Amino acid sequence: MTNTTKNVYDLETVMLEDATSEMVIIDQTLLPSETVFLRLKTQKEIWEAIYKLRVRGAPAIGVAAAYGIYLGAKAIKALEYKEFYTDFISLKKYLASSRPTAVNLFWALDRMDECVKRYKEKTVEDIKFELLKEAHKIKEEDTWVCRSIGEYGLTLLKPDMGILTHCNAGQLATSKYGTALAPIYVGQEKGYNLKVFADETRPLLQGARLTAYELNKAGVDVTLICDNMASAVMKNGWVQGVFVGCDRVAANGDTANKIGTSGVAILAKNYNIPFYVCAPTSTIDLNCASGKDICIEERNPKEVTEMWYEKRMAPKDVKVFNPAFDVTDEKFITGIITEYGIAKAPYNESLKEIFKRKRGM
Ligand code: MRU
Repeated sequence: MTNTTKNVYDLETVMLEDATSEMVIIDQTLLPSETVFLRLKTQKEIWEAIYKLRVRGAPAIGVAAAYGIYLGAKAIKALEYKEFYTDFISLKKYLASSRPTAVNLFWALDRMDECVKRYKEKTVEDIKFELLKEAHKIKEEDTWVCRSIGEYGLTLLKPDMGILTHCNAGQLATSKYGTALAPIYVGQEKGYNLKVFADETRPLLQGARLTAYELNKAGVDVTLICDNMASAVMKNGWVQGVFVGCDRVAANGDTANKIGTSGVAILAKNYNIPFYVCAPTSTIDLNCASGKDICIEERNPKEVTEMWYEKRMAPKDVKVFNPAFDVTDEKFITGIITEYGIAKAPYNESLKEIFKRKRGM
């Protein structure tokens, strides 16, 4: 893994350099104080980058997994399909073990797998080329998807509104625009002058380090608050809508997103503020009947007691609970904004309708 610091900041989160067989990512663990671009070559480096949140956010994880498995497949020596596919499946299992909750990881790897099977009659060299095209397509589609979510989301907003968001579901978490931040960026283009409150998002501060950073950089009016200030801000009447991203939406609308999201949804209900989940269809998992079926990642206790700074903020042997995500019950969700329209309760029906629209039915 080699590091290069660029002078000009480029918000493109994940890029492929096919000529050098490298994936280039912004190391999001170092933002906002350092902008370091990592060049990832090996499967181990790519796995580590996803696991350590150097690249993070459900759609960006999907793009990184697609480019990652392409690079792995490119290096496979086998010339016969059967041998090639056996090695490909080992790569798929390995990358799939990096993080459990964001379904985009598995969705992207499955899509790459389908691509291999679709072209099984071709030569291995040709299959590798098809994989490259498919990975690029996953990234390009994500830009369109986010833009569309932004356009639909903006129909729910009026100029000068106050919006609260949790974690980072912005440009850094996607190919472009973000999901929850897409309506804000599209609104900015159209002169909406929205006022955003960004929860800091403990333990790893994606809200403070990433959301506040990218919105500020884009010239959006953003105010950073600690997680425990959301109620005060809502009570003051400063927020007219909550927009969050998601890592997996179940068939009934229950939604896994960054830890703390469910608390924000409960607060929003209390203050009668609409709560919207911005969800690419790649993040909707109809195989999960409800939130109970979603696997919630538990991470290293040190993220709570030290963050990344190796300076203890809690007693040495204290017990720690560190789930990376929680599930917001569908009853707290006003609408789920997808690239094919806005789903409303009952989600069991409306999400199926969204997928019908996606299939052009
Ligand atoms: O642990 P992270 O930083 O990957 O968690 C990210 C989130 O929870 C985001 O809100 C979610 O992935 C949506 S990103 C468009």
